Amino acid sequence: MQKIINFVEKNNDRYLNELSSLLAIPSVSSQKNHNDDTIKCAEWVANEMRSIGMNNVKIFQTPGHPVVYSEWLNAPGKPTILLYGHYDVQPVDPVNLWSSPPFESSIRNGDLYARGSADDKGQIFIHFKAVEAFMKNVGSLPINLKMLMEGEEEVGSTNLESFVKENKNLLKSDLVVISDSSMFAKGKPSICYGLRGLAYMEVEVTGPNKDLHSGTFGGAVHNPIQALSEMISSLHDKNGRVTIPGFYDEVLSLSKKERDAFKKLPHSDKKYAKDLGIGELYGEKGFSTLERVWARPTLECNGIWGGYIGEGAKTVLPSKATAKISMRLVPNQKSKKMEKLFENHFKKIAPKSVKIKVTAMHGGEAALTPMDSPGVKAAAVAIKKAFGKEPLFQREGGSIPIVVQFKQLLGLDTVLLGFGLPDENAHAPDEHLNLDNFFNGIKTVVHFYNELPNFWK
Ligand code: BES
Ligand code: MN
Ligand code: MN
Repeated sequence: MQKIINFVEKNNDRYLNELSSLLAIPSVSSQKNHNDDTIKCAEWVANEMRSIGMNNVKIFQTPGHPVVYSEWLNAPGKPTILLYGHYDVQPVDPVNLWSSPPFESSIRNGDLYARGSADDKGQIFIHFKAVEAFMKNVGSLPINLKMLMEGEEEVGSTNLESFVKENKNLLKSDLVVISDSSMFAKGKPSICYGLRGLAYMEVEVTGPNKDLHSGTFGGAVHNPIQALSEMISSLHDKNGRVTIPGFYDEVLSLSKKERDAFKKLPHSDKKYAKDLGIGELYGEKGFSTLERVWARPTLECNGIWGGYIGEGAKTVLPSKATAKISMRLVPNQKSKKMEKLFENHFKKIAPKSVKIKVTAMHGGEAALTPMDSPGVKAAAVAIKKAFGKEPLFQREGGSIPIVVQFKQLLGLDTVLLGFGLPDENAHAPDEHLNLDNFFNGIKTVVHFYNELPNFWK
């Protein structure tokens, strides 16, 4: 093992160069003008898999962006890991808020800045380098490995479910490993055991059949922007609870044990608010911050527009107003049901002065993964060896829709072994990845692969 760890330490510069070339490909899955880049990125990933010694590397076309698969199955009797990750990234807008160009890696103060550095290219690359370190030094892996990298995670993994359904045999494994989440904080490595689900809606409110002069008509017509704002503000009550009837019906409540465990985590509301530059925190009354973001469902307005938003002033009473509204879900809420609840409620509260169109965009289910599985135990040992610290156990507020499907379709539990940090600006300008965590991440994965068979008896 020491030989492999030494190899990792000696190759840091090369790792950064190679990762930069992956980060340079603008594989933005949600924007059609980047479709060629997404294909290029899938090819980069496939080539990388070949070069680190993976076998049977294949690019599968889907109705959307390609899936890249590879395997190394030469450890008979040892467990088989299904490693999942995504090579697509979020849009870079607003691009003028980046301190350096989003697709040119830039290192500042021990952090690597680029879109995808933390979410998720940097984290899949951690596994590529761990595999390579084994292959180059001992010529084999201590486990069997199947890699599945998709290009549509950031747009809801639309085509992955059917890919998994159609390829159950190919994907047959013992456990899933995903590095696409965060540690609790710098110097506080963690294992994640819970993710929230998502139901994402778009609502369009139409008032008059055309834009109107706001002087001529203002006062006689319900402005759709006002109507939409009134409707949106009615979705929360004064206790920060969502007012949609039935919204909380399926929510699995927190046990005393879990609430106590959350309380023991090194979290400070004061620091949290200060880091975000807000005067006070907001949320559902009766729950702590960590409970609110990890284990309670929420409703957020992600974007709202209508009327004139260009330069200068234009007096207009617009015909339409639109908003994008998402609900983060927790076990045992079901995204399809929540979409329906939202749609019915939104239509019901609409005043007669406007017409409403509600569209469900994409969704996914919340997941809880076991905290005492062999994979989690091996991960805890690996983290201790690489970071020199016992991991904390935490949940996360974000979503990885495929986790539940791996359980349902393949019967597999997932280990969420994340190396990002919550303040690394995923999805935002100046996304970055801490380099200590990156290098320790590679060592963690090396140890993890090595330890897993010891726990798989
Ligand atoms: N890596 C994130 C998920 C995540 C975020 C896990 C934070 C843990 C903590 C993933 O790439 C992501 O952004 N997922 C989307 C899901 C969606 C588009 C269906 C999300 O959470 O918004
Ligand atoms: Mn991700
Ligand atoms: Mn993401």
